[in-house]
Amino acid sequence: MPQFNDNKAIRYAELRQEIASVVAGETSRTARFASAACMLAEGFAPRFYWTGFYEVDPLKPNELVVGPYQGTLGCLRIPFSKGVCGRCAASGTTQLVPDVHAFEGHIACDSATRSEIVVPIFDADGILVAVLDVDSTEPNAFDEIDQHGLEAICRDLLSV
Ligand code: SME
Repeated sequence: MPQFNDNKAIRYAELRQEIASVVAGETSRTARFASAACMLAEGFAPRFYWTGFYEVDPLKPNELVVGPYQGTLGCLRIPFSKGVCGRCAASGTTQLVPDVHAFEGHIACDSATRSEIVVPIFDADGILVAVLDVDSTEPNAFDEIDQHGLEAICRDLLSV
């Protein structure tokens, strides 16, 4: 679907600018993450069924705790040893999962989820601070264009 994919890449570029402009100068991480979750979920509705952040718990450095999100009720905590989010956090690499049922250890916070992408977010020192989790009710809903688009947006999210 070249036409759709061209449009999708353009949409990511637009959204990256829109999000950067909305959060510019805002020092609260919660405000930045909440705005990005809202704009991504709206920008790619209904494909983005659950869109949100899991943050590394400063008191439990091998555990993620839920942050700002849009969607149905998410799990509150995910250890680095569990799920797609945990795999992303432990490896520090983006996880593209076309079929969550085929991913051993997937955490089904919502049984409607069929595919997902999880992107790591690092601070200026290269320390992992959070992951962005996007889930879809469609199988195979995400590709490399989503990966590049979301990784670019995540790179911006910690710079004020
Ligand atoms: N998808 C995650 C769990 C979090 S929720 O789906 C919101 C995982 O397996 O890591």
